[in-house]
Amino acid sequence: MRVPVIAGNWKMNKGPKEAAALINELKPLVKDAEATVVVCVPAVDLHAAKQALRGSKIKLGAQNVHYKESGAYTGELSAGMLREAGAEYVIIGHSERRQYFGETDETVNLRVKAAVQGGLIPIICVGEKREQREAGYTDTLVTYQTLIALTGLTGDEVSKTIIAYEPVWAIGTGLTATDEQANETIAVIREAIRAKYGKRVSNKVRIQYGGSMNPKNVKGLMAQPEIDGGLIGVASLKAADFSQVVNYSK
Ligand code: 13P
Repeated sequence: MRVPVIAGNWKMNKGPKEAAALINELKPLVKDAEATVVVCVPAVDLHAAKQALRGSKIKLGAQNVHYKESGAYTGELSAGMLREAGAEYVIIGHSERRQYFGETDETVNLRVKAAVQGGLIPIICVGEKREQREAGYTDTLVTYQTLIALTGLTGDEVSKTIIAYEPVWAIGTGLTATDEQANETIAVIREAIRAKYGKRVSNKVRIQYGGSMNPKNVKGLMAQPEIDGGLIGVASLKAADFSQVVNYSK
């Protein structure tokens, strides 16, 4: 049995004060969650968020990591630095990073390896654009994105990663993949992992859905057998909404 993981991706929202306030509001609302709960905050909020999370089971995550340990990489943050600041998880390869910041499957792979080596659990984002779905490339694309991202990891390491299937056309648009579409594509990703790393690994790896997941649609999505949680954008910025997503089974 895979424990579902519900992660908030705050993107470029909230400074340290607002981060602490949201976490303090959230803590009592999700204290009985059955899922693993993660908040992926802007890097400048990690310290304040870590303090605010004391006494809570909510886990802390970052939104990107560089692939070198240190050096002349202005503006970048290493896995070691993020760990020291309190992060245990890190989002890698979000479509916004691929679209606006030149992230490629190869740099995603470098970052995934650095995260794992540095003791962070990567939440690896894959997903197709609308025209790619319409052209029938979704399965090929998510398979390729997933296998490239994982290249160089051992089966054991792969089993501990988290994949987030986020169809680009569903992000921030209010459009959600249907429960069945999300389930089918996640099944394709799991099958790709099984074919390469075996059933023990594919049964363990957690694969989330992301893209306009909210209190209204979470129940249907989470009822699908392949969907092991969600990566939540807008609905993670309000304690009331995010806690309803987290507590979807209640
Ligand atoms: P929304 O939930 O705002 O659509 O964002 C999803 C997402 O990109 C999470 O990483």
